Amino acid sequence: MKNYKDILAENRAFAESTFEKLNKKTLQMAIRSREKIVDGVEANGLHHEVEPTYWTSGFFGSMCYMLYAYTKNEEYLKTGRAQERLLDAAFMREDELHHDVGFQWHILSGASYTLTGDRDSRRRAFYAATMLFSRFVIDGKYIIAWPGQKEKNWTIIDSMMNVPLLYRASELQNDDRFARVAMAHADTLIRTHLREDGSVAHIVEHDRETGDAICSYAGQGCAVGSSWSRGQAWGLYGFILSYIHTKEQRYLDTARRIADYFLSSVEKDGYLPRVDFRSPADEPVYYDSTAGACAACGLIELAKALPENEGGFYLDGAVKILRAMEEKFVDYNTENDHLLGYGTVRYPIKGVYTPEEAKVHISIIYGDFFFTEAILKLLEAPFLPW
Ligand code: GLY
Repeated sequence: MKNYKDILAENRAFAESTFEKLNKKTLQMAIRSREKIVDGVEANGLHHEVEPTYWTSGFFGSMCYMLYAYTKNEEYLKTGRAQERLLDAAFMREDELHHDVGFQWHILSGASYTLTGDRDSRRRAFYAATMLFSRFVIDGKYIIAWPGQKEKNWTIIDSMMNVPLLYRASELQNDDRFARVAMAHADTLIRTHLREDGSVAHIVEHDRETGDAICSYAGQGCAVGSSWSRGQAWGLYGFILSYIHTKEQRYLDTARRIADYFLSSVEKDGYLPRVDFRSPADEPVYYDSTAGACAACGLIELAKALPENEGGFYLDGAVKILRAMEEKFVDYNTENDHLLGYGTVRYPIKGVYTPEEAKVHISIIYGDFFFTEAILKLLEAPFLPW
């Protein structure tokens, strides 16, 4: 296997040409959807609007900040700022917010503060961090995912993408309490979500006193014990982010185990990720490009964290996923808001959702976000919104 630097150099032309096409399109999207909070794409090819409280509301603005950091085009900055102002309405509806405040404000306002030093952005990020902090269960050492009596002892693997907000809050306050909560939660999830084969469970119910797993639920997977691919990607990228923030070896080791599982699963399908790596054989093949794009980001960060001769394997895997998806799923037409197609919002289909309710094979904003982030990583862009 070639080393990290050689693989990066070999794929430079791919990254540059992809970015050039992508940037033409995202610039139009940034102008067209500046005053909308967006999620997926409608049948007419234009962005579908969502409430500011929805968990995906930070991705579009954050994508614009990421592109501003790289291109210095002020149109992206204007959209990032407009998006932050639109999200402010969500703070007045705090009972609708939950652990996804990390997805919403860490990558949006936290990123804005890093880039621009805007004090309003800093306040937003810090306020969101206090909300996440308040969901911590002291005895069991976990962060509750959602409100609700039934869910009060549930955690989900997605939360590993929210805890970087707590590392950021500790940096902002120069006080390690937030980071210690993030690490306590991460340590619980290694115990309760990570399986022997390197896959991760989506939802786990915990004993409130000990944090031990009582049972797990299929959640977005096809059944208990399944492996929803976006969940695998949340775990992979989430644990490497915890490593980046803390330098604790156990988070690197965990990310690597999930990465090995992810790569061996996706290889069988030509590096195009199925929505669930254990989906039933009698079902049509449903993909989820958002899983591939997020996993590619995690794989590249994992590759960077490892010695050069070991990192090459993971960078190679990321490039294979990105190239396969770029060929089959990407639409560069600047007239629509559909960049990375073949995302799947909800799963399973059989007996739970119709394909329409599940929103199968559509373009979703976080797919665009992670695809853009991954291409920027191949270009060695230094800005990390997480
Ligand atoms: N975090 C929710 C999802 O991945 O669908």
